[in-house]
Amino acid sequence: MPLLELSNLRKDFGGLRAVDDVSLTVPEGAIIGLIGPNGSGKSTLIDLIAGATELTAGRVIFDGDDISGLPADAVYHKGIIRGYQEPTLYFKMTVLDNLLLPVKDQRGEQPWYAPRPRSWQREEQTHAEAAMKVLRQVQLLPHYDTLASDLSGGQMKLLEIARALMGKPKLLLLDEPTAGVAPKLAYDIFQQIARLRDDHGITLLIVEHRLEILFDFVDYVYVMHLGNLLASGSAAEISAHATVREVYFGD
Ligand SMILES: Nc1ncnc2c1ncn2[C@@H]1O[C@H](COP(=O)(O)OP(=O)(O)O)[C@@H](O)[C@H]1O
Ligand SMILES: [Mg+2]
Repeated sequence: MPLLELSNLRKDFGGLRAVDDVSLTVPEGAIIGLIGPNGSGKSTLIDLIAGATELTAGRVIFDGDDISGLPADAVYHKGIIRGYQEPTLYFKMTVLDNLLLPVKDQRGEQPWYAPRPRSWQREEQTHAEAAMKVLRQVQLLPHYDTLASDLSGGQMKLLEIARALMGKPKLLLLDEPTAGVAPKLAYDIFQQIARLRDDHGITLLIVEHRLEILFDFVDYVYVMHLGNLLASGSAAEISAHATVREVYFGD
């Protein structure tokens, strides 16, 4: 049984069919690439999986459960967590605080518990330990006290991923994790991403434009075009695929 299975997923925006009956599977422990020209529906597909936009038709099965139509926070708690294309960091806060701030249900923030520090100090310490662990996973631990605004572009991307890791994802959805980053750093980011799978067992679905980097890391690739799945296969198969080359490179 695959970890994620999409059957005939569809999204209409008015008269525009952004995602046109897409079916695909993501096996547990895989790194799967999702590629396609601008406007082909990749981000909309990620939104549909994450519950960020309402689906028009089709089914999303995750870990054996039908999660079609669940709201984003319920999908998050099931273990599907997404990164965003644009960094959404708190730039005037430290790296560590960026990870601690979004954690939900912290008791110290609730008026009833705030005057009772012992009820939340332990919880806060646990969050801080989890954050340090996550920073180690993406090799940002030495920068825990750095302001987010002082990080390099590549480190900001990694911090964004670290924040997603705080939610303990089973499946991590990344939409262009190297956008705007220099090529050498882009390769480093992918090495860190691969380590999440290799060392921590996280399954990944990654939208990426830099095919030469993506293809070094993926187990399998799906290609979208005009809302449809145009092709799927190994990186080698997709590189050699005549129609894909036509759509991508005008061959
Ligand atoms: N919220 C929206 N409202 C209307 N149209 C949208 C919306 N989001 C995306 N689209 C359209 O859906 C199509 C697919 O977009 P998108 O999923 O962002 O493509 P990609 O990520 O592959 O570049 C595009 O034609 C885009 O203009
Ligand atoms: Mg997009």
